[in-house]
Amino acid sequence: MKEIRSVADFEKRIKRVLITKEEIDAAIQKAGREIDKIYDGRPILLVSILKGAFVFLADLCRAVSVPCEIGFMCAKSYYQGTTSTGVVQITMDLEQNISGYHVVIVEDIIDTGRTLHDVVKLLRARNPLSLRVVTLLDKPSRRLVDFEADYSLFTIPDHFAVGYGLDCGEYFRNLPYIAVFEE
Ligand code: IMP
Ligand code: MG
Repeated sequence: MKEIRSVADFEKRIKRVLITKEEIDAAIQKAGREIDKIYDGRPILLVSILKGAFVFLADLCRAVSVPCEIGFMCAKSYYQGTTSTGVVQITMDLEQNISGYHVVIVEDIIDTGRTLHDVVKLLRARNPLSLRVVTLLDKPSRRLVDFEADYSLFTIPDHFAVGYGLDCGEYFRNLPYIAVFEE
């Protein structure tokens, strides 16, 4: 990846806006109502997969009205530039014992499917009351392992996306919209 030294370098890499802040906000309100309907007053545990999903979690948790707890887990899929190497490692685990919880995994994007495939397998083995996956973005054309989210807010084509929590080389997470990154 080319080095980013200035604001101009930074902005040059943003090709175009893929999903606006307004579109994200509207989709999250809709997802919140959907979650309220499914759990019908039952408490849930929203589990954010760090780092990418922290922005999405912050907005999604304020769009649900069922009682909700928050948990964090850090799963790293190793990248060389913008290509996944296929190695997934849990670098920080949940503090909660999830056996008494309806768990909702909150993810930023499903690409090859490897990260969530591994995370779901791990969490299912801990016998939660139920387990569902909500993802902000889905790139189904890139799947290498069979995995589908229970709820996906946006399906996108095969572009590398940044913003709204998603990074390239740790930059761009703070963009309020989702953009296509120039590789
Ligand atoms: P997967 O294991 O290939 O499904 O990839 C999941 C992880 O890779 C996501 O949680 C992201 O952190 C990262 N990732 C995949 N595609 C993108 C992208 O387009 N932009 C930024 N990060 C991505
Ligand atoms: Mg991620």
